[in-house]
Amino acid sequence: MATIEGYQSIEVSSLTPHIGAEVSGVDLRQPLSNEQFSEIYRAWLDWQVLVFREQDIDRDQHKSFARKFGTLHVHPMQHSYGGDPEILTVKTTKDSAYTAGNAWHTDVTCDAIPPMASMLLIKEPPVNGGGDTMFANMYLAYDLLSDVMKELLDGLVAVHNGAIPYLGNYRVAPPGDKEYPRNEHPVIVTHPETGKKVLFVNSGFTSHIKGMRNWESRALLDALLTHIATTARLTCRVEWQPNTLTLWDNRCTQHHAVWDYWPESRYGERVSILGNQRPQA
Ligand code: SIN
Repeated sequence: MATIEGYQSIEVSSLTPHIGAEVSGVDLRQPLSNEQFSEIYRAWLDWQVLVFREQDIDRDQHKSFARKFGTLHVHPMQHSYGGDPEILTVKTTKDSAYTAGNAWHTDVTCDAIPPMASMLLIKEPPVNGGGDTMFANMYLAYDLLSDVMKELLDGLVAVHNGAIPYLGNYRVAPPGDKEYPRNEHPVIVTHPETGKKVLFVNSGFTSHIKGMRNWESRALLDALLTHIATTARLTCRVEWQPNTLTLWDNRCTQHHAVWDYWPESRYGERVSILGNQRPQA
């Protein structure tokens, strides 16, 4: 890890040159000063994924840190999970049929306005290690494309369908008599705060690219998803300890929970923050 200069009220150390940083000098049980919050916000935009260690916070403290970023998001399938609608529990045991997020994805892109950020607090990591989360930088995924590919993708629109994970893996029925959320987003979006371009398709939710033959759409999506899944330099890896909280910018990253710890268990709680606009080209 390398210390990043330019912060007065917190310490920031990068995990890799392109994505991920650890923040220290912050106790999330206490109110943050304005300077601390604005430096955290700046570090989050710069590093996309921020890791805070030893944060023994309760649900209200978790939610109140998240509320500093915006309105809390309620997961579209939350009706089936019960409990606090603003807290998504992430629990895997030896009896689990799957673990949530065990593939590259961006959270809930089937929504018209996907969450802009998520904060996962792992309270009980697996006892024998493992259970890391990998994150990938979608600015860099875009930058590494050839000019020919960038030109081809410019103006294309993809469909993101909640039926893919919720029907496929999780087998969760949609709320009431509604359909699974399904929305269209540009394949290349511009981050609303940094102004940088992002490759915005993910294997969790993106079903197809509009206006193409099925085989064309499948071939193009497969090429882009393979680029994301196999370009190691896009990634950083968060190794969890009890009470590690990780905050990610969902507008420019993907993540993948690694289920390598069966038959051990892992438990955490996630709070997400609603975006303030639809993803735009
Ligand atoms: C998720 O938010 O997709 C879950 C990530 C994890 O459990 O590491």
